[in-house]
Amino acid sequence: MPATVVVGAQWGDEGKGKVVDLLAERSDVVARYQGGNNAGHTIVAGDQVYKLHLVPSGILYPGTLCVIGNGTVVDPGALCREIDALEERGVSLETLRLSGNAHLIMPYHVMLDGASEMRLGRFSIGTTRRGIGPCYEDKAARVGIRVQDLLDPKILVRKLEVALEAKNEILEKVYEMPRLDPSQVAEDTLRHAERLRPFIADTALLIDEALRAGKRVLFEGAQGTMLDIDHGTYPFVTSSNPIAGAACTGVGVGPGRIDRVLGVSKAYVTRVGEGPFPTELSDDEGRHMMERGNEFGTTTGRQRRCGWLDLVALRYAVRLSGVTQLALTKLDVLSGLERVQVCEAYRTREGDRITDFPYHQTVFHGCRPEYRALEGWDEDLSHCRSLEDLPPRARGYVEAIAEAVEVPITLIGTGQGRHQVIDQVET
Ligand code: GDP
Ligand code: IMO
Ligand code: MG
Repeated sequence: MPATVVVGAQWGDEGKGKVVDLLAERSDVVARYQGGNNAGHTIVAGDQVYKLHLVPSGILYPGTLCVIGNGTVVDPGALCREIDALEERGVSLETLRLSGNAHLIMPYHVMLDGASEMRLGRFSIGTTRRGIGPCYEDKAARVGIRVQDLLDPKILVRKLEVALEAKNEILEKVYEMPRLDPSQVAEDTLRHAERLRPFIADTALLIDEALRAGKRVLFEGAQGTMLDIDHGTYPFVTSSNPIAGAACTGVGVGPGRIDRVLGVSKAYVTRVGEGPFPTELSDDEGRHMMERGNEFGTTTGRQRRCGWLDLVALRYAVRLSGVTQLALTKLDVLSGLERVQVCEAYRTREGDRITDFPYHQTVFHGCRPEYRALEGWDEDLSHCRSLEDLPPRARGYVEAIAEAVEVPITLIGTGQGRHQVIDQVET
C-alpha cells in the first residue's frame, strides 16, 4: 500500500480510528497531521477498547512507526497520561515519534478556551475545551511554544515571559481570571520534558526516508471536512485543516508523494457541538441511530446529534480532499429501520434546488434537505464480511451512495470490532 491519507468526510467521529487501525496492520508508518486531543479515536480489538486522542491509531501494531506531526497541537500533560495509560496496558510506545515543530497546548490555552466559550454564551461553538483554538491562534501569531522548546529551558522561560505579558492582561481584565507566573508555567511544563524527550525527532525527515525506501505510509486525519477551518461550517469548526491537503503541511511532504485519499463517512451523519446540520433528526429514527450506534463522544461524552446521510455534503468532502475511495462505516446501525433516506439536494429559503454545497453560510443555514427514500432492511449485518453477505437492500443502499459520490466504496463497517468490515482496500 503506497502513501494514503485517511480523512474524515463529515463532522468528525466517522470511525477513522478503526479504519486506520485496520490499515495499519499492513502499513509501516502512521502519521497524524493536525488537531490535538480534541480528537477521540476508538479502536475495539477483541475485548479490549482503546480510546486514543493524540497517539496515532497505528500504535497497537508493534513495529509501526507512529508519528505525531508538526501540524498537530500537543498538550504535554495529556500526551504523557495517554502514553502512560497505554504502557500500563502493555502497548509498546517504542515506535512513537513527536515532531519538534509541533506546538504545545499550554495551561492558559485551556483556560482561554473554556472562558471564551462561557463568554460566547448562546453563541458558543461547543468546543472540546482542550485549548485547541487558542493554541493554533498563538501559532499564527508567532508567540507559540513548541515541542522543541522543552529541550531548552532558558528559551522556554523567555518565550513564556513574552507570551504571558499579553495573555495575563486578557486573563485578568477580560475574563477575571488569575495571572500566571512564567517561571511556574515553565516549571510545570518542564515536568513533562524528560518523559517526552526520547520521542522528539525530525519527523518530516523520518517520513521522507520511509517514502524513499518504498515504505507504506498512512496519514491520519482527525476531525472531519465539515469542521475544516477554511471549508467547514465556519465559525462552528475546529481551528485546523482536517482535509487531505493539510497532510502535506502537517507532516512536511510534497503533494506528489500522496497516492490515494480514503474518505471515511458513516452510513448516516453525526455531529457534536453547535452549528447547522440540515439532515438532523429529532424523532425515533434519530434515536435509533443514537442508541444502536452508541453515539456519545469519545472525548467529552456528549450525546452526538444524528441524522440521515447528506450526499450534498459528502460530495463536497470528496471534491475538497480529492477522495479516491470511500470507507462507509456503521452500516450495521441502520438495520431495523423501515426506510432509510439520503439527502440528494438542498432547497434554499428562496426555493431553489441546489446540489453543490453552498459557500455562503447564510444560504446553508436556510437549506432544507430533499430526500430520496430507500427500503430498509432488518437483517443483522455484524457477520457480513463480503458484499455477497449483505442483504440486497443494504447492498442497494451502498451502491446508491457510491453512484451519487462517484467514488468506489472499498470498505464497509458492519460492527464495532476490528474485523467487522467488508474490506476491499488494495494493499
Ligand atoms: P473517529 O473519531 O473518526 O475515530 O471515530 P470515533 O471513534 O470517535 O467514533 C466512532 C465510533 O463508532 C467508535 O465507537 C467506533 O468503535 C465505532 N465504529 C466504527 N466503525 C463502526 C462500524 O462499522 N459499526 C459500528 N457499530 N461501530 C463502529
Ligand atoms: P475526531 O478526530 C467530532 C468539534 C467540537 C466543536 C468543534 C470545535 O474524534 O473525529 P475544538 O475543541 O476542536 O475547538 O472544537 O469541533 N470537534 C469534534 N467533533 N470529532 C472530533 O474529533 C472533534 N474535534 C473537535 O465538538 O464542535
Ligand atoms: Mg472521534
